[in-house]
Amino acid sequence: MDKFVMVIFGASGDLTKRKLMPALYSLFREKRLKGDFNILGTARTEYSDEGYATYILQELKEFLKAEEQDERTMTDFVGHLRYLPLDPSQEDHYPALKKRLVELCGTEQPDNLLFYLATPPSLYGVVPLHLKAVGLNTPHARIIVEKPFGYDLESAQKLNQIYGSVFEERQVYRIDHFLGKETAQNMLALRFANGVFEPLWNRNYIDYVEVTAVENLGIEQRGGYYDTSGALRDMVQNHLIQLVALTAMEPPAVFNADSFRNEVLKVYESLTPLTEEDLNEHIVRGQYTASEHRKGYREEKGVAADSRTETYIAMKLGISNWRWAGVPFYIRTGKQMPTKVTEVVVHFRQTPHQMFHAIGGGEPGANSLVIRIQPNEGSVLKIGMKMPGAGFEVKQVSLDFTYDQLGGVPSGDAYARLIDDCIQGDPTLFTRGDAVEASWRFFTPVLKYWKEHPDTALYGYPAGTWGPKESEAMMHEHGAEWTNPCKNLTNTDQYCEL
Ligand code: BG6
Repeated sequence: MDKFVMVIFGASGDLTKRKLMPALYSLFREKRLKGDFNILGTARTEYSDEGYATYILQELKEFLKAEEQDERTMTDFVGHLRYLPLDPSQEDHYPALKKRLVELCGTEQPDNLLFYLATPPSLYGVVPLHLKAVGLNTPHARIIVEKPFGYDLESAQKLNQIYGSVFEERQVYRIDHFLGKETAQNMLALRFANGVFEPLWNRNYIDYVEVTAVENLGIEQRGGYYDTSGALRDMVQNHLIQLVALTAMEPPAVFNADSFRNEVLKVYESLTPLTEEDLNEHIVRGQYTASEHRKGYREEKGVAADSRTETYIAMKLGISNWRWAGVPFYIRTGKQMPTKVTEVVVHFRQTPHQMFHAIGGGEPGANSLVIRIQPNEGSVLKIGMKMPGAGFEVKQVSLDFTYDQLGGVPSGDAYARLIDDCIQGDPTLFTRGDAVEASWRFFTPVLKYWKEHPDTALYGYPAGTWGPKESEAMMHEHGAEWTNPCKNLTNTDQYCEL
C-alpha cells in the first residue's frame, strides 16, 4: 500500500487542537500510527510546515495530560505534520492540494488517503465535490465527517446524495464520538455478554429508562456555531439517540458493521412518531440564565441578545416494538448544569406485592441499573437488603462495578479509537447514512414545530442548576423523579460519585 496521508480540513480550528491532534499523538505513541506517514493540515490561516508543527507542539502541551507528554515522542510526532494554506470552499484551491499529495506520496495518483472534515458544517457538502473535481475520490480514500450531518432531514438527505455521488458508502465515516467511548461500547458487553439481563430487558420488567448527558460548562468559544444549532441538533439527534439505541437494540447475530448498524437503524425506525400533543407537552426546552458566578447564555460571545436557542432539552420518547411498547424513555441534555455526567438508568418494575417497609416507612424502592458512561465509569445495580437487627426494614444498596476493577479507568480517547478504526477500515462505530436519515426523520418535526410556533415555551434556568422545573413535571406524570447524581453538590465543578 502507498504511503498514508491524512488531510485535515479545519486544521487551525478548535476541534483539531483539542481532540484530533491529541488523539493522533496518542495513536502515534501507542505505535498504531507508524512508518512513513504524514498529516497534512489545511485551513485558510497561513502557516509554513515548520510553523504549523510548532503551533501544534504548543497546543499538545496544553491539551495532553502531563503523564501523556513525552518530549521526544511529541517532537517525533510533529515531525510528520505538513501544512497547506487552503480555503476549502474554493474549488480552484484543490489542484494545489492534489499537487502537494502527489509530492508527499511520490505517486501520480495518491490513494491511501484519509480526509477529515473538521470544518464548519456548512462546508460538509462542498469539500467532497471539490475533491472529486481533482480526482481525489480514489477507491481507497476515506472521509470522516463530523456531526451534525445535516441540520434536518432534507439537508441530511441532500448530503447523503452528495457523498453518494463522490464516494461509496464504505468510504464515508460519519463520526459520533459517543460511540468511541469505551463505556458506551461496554453497554453491548453488559447486555450481550451476560445472561442475567436479557430475560428482564423488556416491557414486562422495565418500567422506564432515563438517558442523561449533562455538562457543567457553557458553550465556551462556540457561540457562533451553537446559536444556530441548539441542544437538539448538537446532542440529542446524535449522541443521546445513540445511547437510546445501545440500550434498546436487539442483539445482533454477529458483531460486525452491518449487523450492528442494522439493529441501530431498527431502533430509530421504531421510534414512535411524535404527535402534536407530544411536541407541545412532552418536550421541555430551556436556556441558561445568569447566576451568581456564571454568565447567562445570551451574554455569551457569538450569541444573539434575544436568542431563543435551547441549551437544555428533556423529552419523552416511545419505541413501538414488541420489546419496548409502553416503556417511556426520558432523555435530557443541558449545558451549565451542576455537574458533568452521562448515564443511562434502567428502572425495573416494582415487585407485584411488597411485604417490607423501607427505612422510615413507605415501600422499598424498585431496582434500577445505572450505567455510567462518564465520569467514574462503571455500573451499579440498586437492590433492597434487610437492615441488620430487629424488624424487616429494607434499605437500598448498590452492587457496583467500576472500571478500576478492570485495571483502571478506560484509557484512550474516543477520537483515537474511532480514527484508528477508520484507518483500519472498520466502520462499525460510525453512523451509516440510512441511520442518520432515520434519526432526522424522527426529530425534524420538533424543529419544524418550534419554527412554526415561535412562542413555544423556552424556560430559563439559572446556570449551575438542574434545568427548568417543568422537566420535573414530565417525570411526575410517570410518578417518578429524574435521577440527579450529586443532588446536594456544593462545589458544582466537582465530579460526582456513582
Ligand atoms: C459534542 C458537542 O459533540 O459533544 C458539545 O458538540 C459537547 O457541545 C460534547 O460538549 C460533549 O462530549 P463529551 O465527550 O465531553 O461528553
